[in-house]
Amino acid sequence: MIYSRITGTGSYLPEKVITNFDLEKMVDTTDEWIRTRTGIERRHIAADGQTTVDLAEVAARRALDAAGIAPTDVDYIAFGTTTPDLVFPNCGVLLQQRLGCRGGPAFSVETACAGFMYALSIADKYVRCGEARRALVIGSETLSRITDWSDRGTAVLFADGAGAVVLEPSEAPGILSTHLHADGQYKDLLCCASGVSKGFAPKLKITMSGNEVFKIAVIKLGESVEETLAANGLNKEALDWLVPHQANIRIIQATARRLDLPMEKVILTVKEHGNTSAASVPLALDVAVRDGRITRGQLLLLEAFGGGFTWGSALVRY
Ligand code: ACO
Repeated sequence: MIYSRITGTGSYLPEKVITNFDLEKMVDTTDEWIRTRTGIERRHIAADGQTTVDLAEVAARRALDAAGIAPTDVDYIAFGTTTPDLVFPNCGVLLQQRLGCRGGPAFSVETACAGFMYALSIADKYVRCGEARRALVIGSETLSRITDWSDRGTAVLFADGAGAVVLEPSEAPGILSTHLHADGQYKDLLCCASGVSKGFAPKLKITMSGNEVFKIAVIKLGESVEETLAANGLNKEALDWLVPHQANIRIIQATARRLDLPMEKVILTVKEHGNTSAASVPLALDVAVRDGRITRGQLLLLEAFGGGFTWGSALVRY
């Protein structure tokens, strides 16, 4: 049996930082409120003209470097983003051109904060069936472009960043299973209700019913983690690390509590960069791989939840 295995990780955060104290000067909020309600202390924001693909390119090159693969040898790109550079060509194709790898499939997946989980699940299938051998899976966002900086309910949460992994075929276990879900009945609770076909609104911005998103996210992420463990006949003790979507520390704590998982087994980076949507899981994974917490052979559970709602998880033998 052939698995797809993560052979390299990379990430990138843009240089410009907005702290909670900076936000105090922009909207009616406090550092204390933001820290206690979200766990976020600072967020990185793309410079003028710096795009989602610009961030992705740095993360991708770092992941390829870690995997020891030349950019020109990539034969498959799955790119999760809600903030594409252009209507088309898609971000996968734009990244392909930057890397100089030609001919393989390159596409983007638009499932908000679950974008990386969807892209990973799709790429995993292609690697396992032999149709991709050096796949790049990306999550990259410039959410600052669709954040309403005058709305304290959302401006304190969202930010920019990118993460990437390289998948290659392997006889040793790698990705053990992936699980994707969506429920469109919740479409209005978290959205950016503007677009090409419907017509662009004068102000392109995220709107969110924070309380309701919070409650459903905790339920669905809990179910998703339980589903993933059950599908593999495992219980939570088998897990070395939970690598959750870095949306809000209280959502992460609630998910861990529901699973009775100690916070020492949870990778947390939200404090440093806020909610970077599709970039969040590969960013957190890369940080923990590079600082030595995540090591080869460990069992990881990745999960994310986002607008739509869309959500997904993956069990990974790293
Ligand atoms: N600063 C100060 N006060 C604020 C702020 C702010 N930035 N934002 C809201 N408030 C006020 C509200 O106006 C309200 O005041 P009131 O009681 O006088 O009416 C009070 O704080 C409480 O507001 P709530 O919305 O009930 O606050 P809550 O504890 O629910 O926290 C939050 C809000 C942080 C948005 C929370 O609901 C949340 O985390 N939701 C999940 C949202 C999320 O993570 N979305 C990301 C995308 S989905 C995902 O990635 C999982």
